[in-house]
Amino acid sequence: MSTNLTRNGLALDAVSAGYGQALAIRDITLTVTPGEVVALLGRNGAGKSTTLKAVMGMLPLRGGQVLMDGDEISGRPVHARAGAGIGYVPEDRRIFTGLTVAENLESGRRPIEAGRDWTPDRLFDLFPNLAPARDRHAGQLSGGEQQMLALARTLMGNPRMLLLDEPSEGLAPVIVDALARVVKTLKQEGLGILLCEQNTSFTTKVADRAAIIESGSLQYEGSMGQLALDDAVRKRYLAV
Ligand SMILES: Nc1ncnc2c1ncn2[C@@H]1O[C@H](COP(=O)(O)OP(=O)(O)OP(=O)(O)O)[C@@H](O)[C@H]1O
Ligand SMILES: [Mg+2]
Repeated sequence: MSTNLTRNGLALDAVSAGYGQALAIRDITLTVTPGEVVALLGRNGAGKSTTLKAVMGMLPLRGGQVLMDGDEISGRPVHARAGAGIGYVPEDRRIFTGLTVAENLESGRRPIEAGRDWTPDRLFDLFPNLAPARDRHAGQLSGGEQQMLALARTLMGNPRMLLLDEPSEGLAPVIVDALARVVKTLKQEGLGILLCEQNTSFTTKVADRAAIIESGSLQYEGSMGQLALDDAVRKRYLAV
């Protein structure tokens, strides 16, 4: 294993993965420690979602390994990676539109482990817009409320590491601000968060570090503050 990969939190060590014959990501090395928000940035088709799928086990690795708290989890099935403490909110949000908000939350419940214990009531405090909608069908919610519900449902599984795929996409600015407050709260509670986005408009508010992926390879790593000041890098690699 490469040097300095964390025994605390999530580590990708030279991860490669792809579809059919083609590799979509190559040699991705990245860490996310507890309480840290890392932005994985890149344009359409850069390999962001593929990276999250490889971490979650939805795609077999073609090389490298994924570690959680120093344990290799690359060979484990998806549910076992959730059991290792990883929560995933995919791009398509995957909530049950025919179930109520409360039922969606129940569907995210996993056996309780030591430590943090999310309940529907705590989640309704964190997502105040969802509280009055508790008995409504999720299909009736706005896009922003559905995104909040997808995140809340994943939190019901008490993850220690969150993978968020373009959570701010298509949301009104006021909802993006609400999402930023939630991410900051989760960070304060010690969750690590790997956050995929195409640009820096949301991530500037919440991320500590940024990694930029293009054509399946990491091209840049730096603090979010450094990247915010680096117009040349943002123009070169991001949809600005
Ligand atoms: N199911 C699939 N089958 C074949 N190729 C795929 C599949 N999903 C993604 N790809 C290809 O893999 C590459 C990386 O795609 P990926 O979805 O990871 O990009 P992304 O950075 O998440 O893009 P976006 O911002 O549009 O979500 C692209 O070339 C894409 O066309
Ligand atoms: Mg994607």
